Amino acid sequence: MSLFATKPLGDLQREAETPTLRRALGPWSLISLGIGAIIGAGLFSLTGIAAAEYAGPAVVLSFVFAAIGCAFAGLCYSEFATMIPVAGSAYTYAYATMGEFLAWTIGWSLVLEYAIGAATVSISWSSYMVSLLHDWGLDLPYQLIASPWQPVMLPSGVLVHGMVNLPAVFIVVLISILLMTGIRESARATAVMVIIKVSVVVIFILAGWAFMRPENHVPFIPPNTGRFGEFGWSGILRAAGIIFFAYIGFDAVSTAAQEARNPQRNMPIGIIGSLAICTVLYVLFAYVMTGLEHYTRFRGNAAPVALAIAATPYEWLKGSIKLATIAGLTSVILVMLLGQSRVFFSMARDGLLPKVFCDIHPRWRTPWKSNLILMVFVSLFSAFAPISLVGQMTSIGTLLAFVIVCAGVLVMRRTNPNAPRPFRTPLVPLVPALGILTCLAMMFGLGWPNWARLIGWLAIGYAIYFGYSRHHSLLRARS
Ligand code: ALA
Repeated sequence: MSLFATKPLGDLQREAETPTLRRALGPWSLISLGIGAIIGAGLFSLTGIAAAEYAGPAVVLSFVFAAIGCAFAGLCYSEFATMIPVAGSAYTYAYATMGEFLAWTIGWSLVLEYAIGAATVSISWSSYMVSLLHDWGLDLPYQLIASPWQPVMLPSGVLVHGMVNLPAVFIVVLISILLMTGIRESARATAVMVIIKVSVVVIFILAGWAFMRPENHVPFIPPNTGRFGEFGWSGILRAAGIIFFAYIGFDAVSTAAQEARNPQRNMPIGIIGSLAICTVLYVLFAYVMTGLEHYTRFRGNAAPVALAIAATPYEWLKGSIKLATIAGLTSVILVMLLGQSRVFFSMARDGLLPKVFCDIHPRWRTPWKSNLILMVFVSLFSAFAPISLVGQMTSIGTLLAFVIVCAGVLVMRRTNPNAPRPFRTPLVPLVPALGILTCLAMMFGLGWPNWARLIGWLAIGYAIYFGYSRHHSLLRARS
C-alpha cells in the first residue's frame, strides 16, 4: 500500500457518528476551551520583549499581523472540523487528504505542540508559583524547583542548578487526574480559570487606559536601526514571529470536535470566536502597556507587566496579575494535555499507536489510560527538561501543522469537491495559500537550530512509523 493512501471520508464521517466520547461541549464551552489554551505565558512575558527589542509601540501591529496569519489557518481548520468532526484535529484532516505518511508526520508534530508545549508551560507555571509562594513567605528548597539543566537565581544573587522541578510535576499530575475523570469537569475548571485571566486582562486595560502618556506612543513605529528585524517594518514582522506563541492554542478547539454538540455550527464559533476575542484583548493590552511605559524600559525586564502597572496608582494589580498568570497557565496546560490525548486517541483508533491509547473508561468516558501514560511522559519532561530547549519547538511544530492543514483544504477541494462542507473557507485558494505563506515565513523566522531539532524529532517519529505503525495500520490491513 502506498505511503500516501488516504482514509476514506465516509469512514471518518461514520466514526463521527459512533458514540464513544461524551458530546458535552456547547459554543461557550468551546470558546472558553480556546481562550483557555491561548492566553498564557506569551501575552504576559513576550509583549514587553517584542516591544523593547523589535517593534516599539508598533508591537500592536505585530499582534494584528500574527492574528491575520492565525485567522487564515483558523478558517481552514474550521472547514475541516465541520466536515470531519472527529477527535484528532490536523492529524485526521491530513489522513483524509494527503495520506498516512503525512498524517503520521502531523500527529508526531502535534506532540511538540501539545505534550512538549504542556511540559514547557508547566515549567513556567512552576516559576510563577515559586515566586507567589515567596511573596507569601514560603520558600521551597532550590533543589526541588528546577531541573539539573535549569539555572536558578537565589535571593542572594548566586546562580545554582536544581535537581528536579517538583511544582511542574505537581501541576501535570493534578491536571491529568482531572482530565481522566471527565470532559465536563475539565471544561468547568477551564471556564473558571478563563474568567479569572480574562478579568485581569480587562482590568489592566481599563485601569491603565487613563494613565497612558501619549508621548510613549511617539514614534509609533520607531525607525529601523539599519539591521533587518530591529524596528521599522521588518521589526514588526520579526516581533510577530516572536509573539505568535501567544496565539497558539485556538486550534486545540478542533481536537475536541468529537465532544462538541452540533459541531457543524459550534466548531467555527469556538475556533474563530476564541481567536477574535483574544486578538482584541491582545491588541488593547499591548497598546496600554506601551502607553504606560516607554518601550525602551522593557528591555531585559523579567516582569514587564509589573513595570507597566507601576505607572498607575494600582499596586494591588501586580499580585493579581501573578495570580491570573498562574490561572492562565493552568488552563493552557489543561487544554494542551486534553488535545494530546485526543490526537493519540485517533492515531490509536487507526492502528498507528497501540490500542491502550484509545481505551475509553466505561463511566468517565475519557481515554484515561492515555492520560495516565501522557502524565508520566510529560512529567518527566517537566521535571528534568530545560525550558529554553523546548520553548520554540512548540512554535515550529504548531506552524508545521498549520501549513499542512491549509494545504489540506486545497487538496480536499480537488479530491472531494462535492462533499458537504457546513463551513467553507472563504476565497479559496487565496486564503489557504496566504496561510501557508505566512506560516512558512514565521517558521523560517525561527531559525536553523529549531529546524534541526524538528528534523531530529521527525526522524524518531519515522523510526516508530516504519518499525511499528505501518505494520499495524488498519487502513493497510484492509487494503
Ligand atoms: N498561547 C499559549 C501561551 O501564551 C501557549 O502560553
